[in-house]
Amino acid sequence: MALPHHHVPTSASLAFPTVVFALVVALRLASAAPAPMAGDLLEKRNNALFSSFQAEQGLHQAAALSAMTLLITAHRAIMNTGFVLRQRSLSTDAWVVLTVGLVTCIWTTLVVLSGLLFKERPCRASLEACLARMSYAPWMLQILFFFWLIAFWDEVSYLRSKDVEHRMRLNLSDSSIAETKHAWLSITLPRILGFRIWKLECSRGPSNWSGSVDPKFRWLLYGTITSVVVITAYGAIRGALYSLGLLNLVGVVLFVAGAGGANMYAGAPHVYNGDMLRIALTTRHREGTVYILPFRNRGFDAVWSPKIDYEHREVDALSNSEAEGRRRDLRHILAAFNESTELDPDAVNDLAGWLYEPEKHPTMQQIKCKRAPGIHLIGSSIMFALWHSEYLVFMRRGLLQPDYERMVGSLRSPKLTGADLDASVRQVGNLPGLEGYQEAVRYVYRLFDQPVDDMALNPTSPTPKTSIVLDKCPDTIEDYTAQLWDHCITAEESTFAALYAFTCYWVSDVGSDATHGWHQFPLRAWDREGDLVSWHVVWRQAWYSAIIAQLTSMSPVILSAFAAGILQ
Ligand SMILES: *[C@@H]1O[C@H](CO)[C@@H](O)[C@H](O)[C@H]1NC(C)=O
Ligand SMILES: *[C@@H]1O[C@H](CO)[C@@H](O)[C@H](O)[C@H]1NC(C)=O
Ligand SMILES: *[C@@H]1O[C@H](CO)[C@@H](O)[C@H](O)[C@H]1NC(C)=O
Repeated sequence: MALPHHHVPTSASLAFPTVVFALVVALRLASAAPAPMAGDLLEKRNNALFSSFQAEQGLHQAAALSAMTLLITAHRAIMNTGFVLRQRSLSTDAWVVLTVGLVTCIWTTLVVLSGLLFKERPCRASLEACLARMSYAPWMLQILFFFWLIAFWDEVSYLRSKDVEHRMRLNLSDSSIAETKHAWLSITLPRILGFRIWKLECSRGPSNWSGSVDPKFRWLLYGTITSVVVITAYGAIRGALYSLGLLNLVGVVLFVAGAGGANMYAGAPHVYNGDMLRIALTTRHREGTVYILPFRNRGFDAVWSPKIDYEHREVDALSNSEAEGRRRDLRHILAAFNESTELDPDAVNDLAGWLYEPEKHPTMQQIKCKRAPGIHLIGSSIMFALWHSEYLVFMRRGLLQPDYERMVGSLRSPKLTGADLDASVRQVGNLPGLEGYQEAVRYVYRLFDQPVDDMALNPTSPTPKTSIVLDKCPDTIEDYTAQLWDHCITAEESTFAALYAFTCYWVSDVGSDATHGWHQFPLRAWDREGDLVSWHVVWRQAWYSAIIAQLTSMSPVILSAFAAGILQ
């Protein structure tokens, strides 16, 4: 992004419209000490004001106006194009904040330069004049940027050390620990500061930034901003820049009070890069578990996250619909998920490798999160996630290596897919009855490299009396399982879709039978601290309110810039 270019007029133009002239005079008079003046004295003074006005204030005005234009344009652009979430490199959130930080630094530098080098050189004249000039700088954004950098470093280093700790707790291979290649990131700030800056609090959605940072950190930020702004505002008021001085103070109050309201970024598109494929699971709350699909050298993960409206828009539409309407609706969810992913061919092939030849991708087989004790892996949420990943690979089968492309049929139903699948490959789970079900279950356990739970393989729940899909309920749970599986595998497009349907019907018929290992969420997040994505999502609120507060405090500068015809 480049700074928009504006011409900075250096001399008064004679052909200036009288209306604008009157506006400038009014603005100047409003901010100058109101002293009653005789007619021609007033006129002389106004002319003098007017001719020096543009030359003196051109640079601050240009800086404020360009920065404002850029911030508003960036806001619109993000609302329309959305955020790309990544794990290995910086996501859109980080880029946006770095851009805003860069703009802020340039803005501050221009103000400082104008104080030191420009025309009157107030910073060489007196301290008060210098402070008055400094009140044109965006202190709120500038200070917030430094605090953000510290908090970002803290969060990244903390998440790395936590990752290493979890790997050791799970006895995962040492080679994956060596992945942490940036040694400096292992110095964790919490150890230096003695407290942790971040504590995710999102029970009421993603905008409780002030509740999510440590109060010590937050008050240090508020205190720094307040002292800097009070000092410069004092200079501004001494220099008769009353509106600027007072509005700077009002801006701080707006920021501290969070008066800008909640941001709407959760409704903007969120696009997944191949290393950050998030599966949003149904939740009635404003927060919940999100599954993250494996990627290259990282296993399947579950993290706690605030509810991002965009991710949930399709799932929420489904949550109350009847089980019969489920299939049609789920296609919307899968298509929407497919649309919001950006996968390069390598990522597609890695995902396909894990799905079709799990043993050749041992790091992707690892479960990075916690397994619920006594619960087997055949739960609807995992089947939902597996169906998503298989669907992604299937939709991009044109990008697959020939041997993976051949295996697409191993997880797809040839009848219901409508694509040319290799007829020599048999679909997993299409054997009749219990045998087919057990084959599919074993396959799921292979994907996660876990010993097969007998509870999953040979269900032991009480036999249901009625079923929403079977006309007549069989007498034994084995027969029930076999018949339900036969129904699912013939009706659904893929093996995981059939398993998903199976778990949904099972819950409707048998109920959520946790004593026999059946539960919707076999995998759980370690804690409610969230990951870097949640961190960024919640920090958006701080930037949003700081920008609103900053633009409010800059409004006289911006308004007078308009009035002075800087947009000519
Ligand atoms: C990890 O490995 C150690 C010894 O190598 C063993 O004592 C411990 O039980 C293992 N922990 C888990 C969770 O497998
Ligand atoms: C934000 O979090 C704080 C701290 O946990 C809590 O006291 C406050 O009620 C929360 N505010 C909202 C609007 O959720
Ligand atoms: C899924 O995404 C891929 C790549 O963008 C595209 O080729 C395919 O048509 C999409 N499928 C659907 C059903 O939208």
